[in-house]
Amino acid sequence: MSISVKVNGRQRQSDAEADTPLLYVLRNDLELNGAKFGCGMAQCGACTVHVDGNAVRSCVTPASAVAGKEVTTIEGIGSADKLHPLQRAFIEEQAAQCGYCSAGMIMSAKALLDRNPLPTPDQVREALAGNLCRCGTHTRIVRAVLRAAR
Ligand code: FES
Repeated sequence: MSISVKVNGRQRQSDAEADTPLLYVLRNDLELNGAKFGCGMAQCGACTVHVDGNAVRSCVTPASAVAGKEVTTIEGIGSADKLHPLQRAFIEEQAAQCGYCSAGMIMSAKALLDRNPLPTPDQVREALAGNLCRCGTHTRIVRAVLRAAR
């Protein structure tokens, strides 16, 4: 089956089976490796991307579910030359330790800031509650999101 999906503003094709997780399509077929495989069970948030502006767990989203929709990955919001304010704030606050969770954290945080540009610390913590950081840098991650919102 061929699936057509718009990713980071570009129309892309994949020959993946309809029930292949979107995460696999992004990483294996489209070479977009920002979103990470953590648990594969919608428990950790490492695979978070946006579908039509909403944060979703791409490890449990079938590729067929995003046909005709807009997918945005961490690669689509900024680059090394032109960082997104969240990416810059994560660097400035040294929010990453190993960095494995960062892309998912940033995409969840972006979904929050897109609908609430000036969140309280509690609102940031609530929005990121489903994103796990095993290094335990949550305090710095929350600071980074609040810095990006300023
Ligand atoms: Fe998708 Fe953990 S890998 S939520």
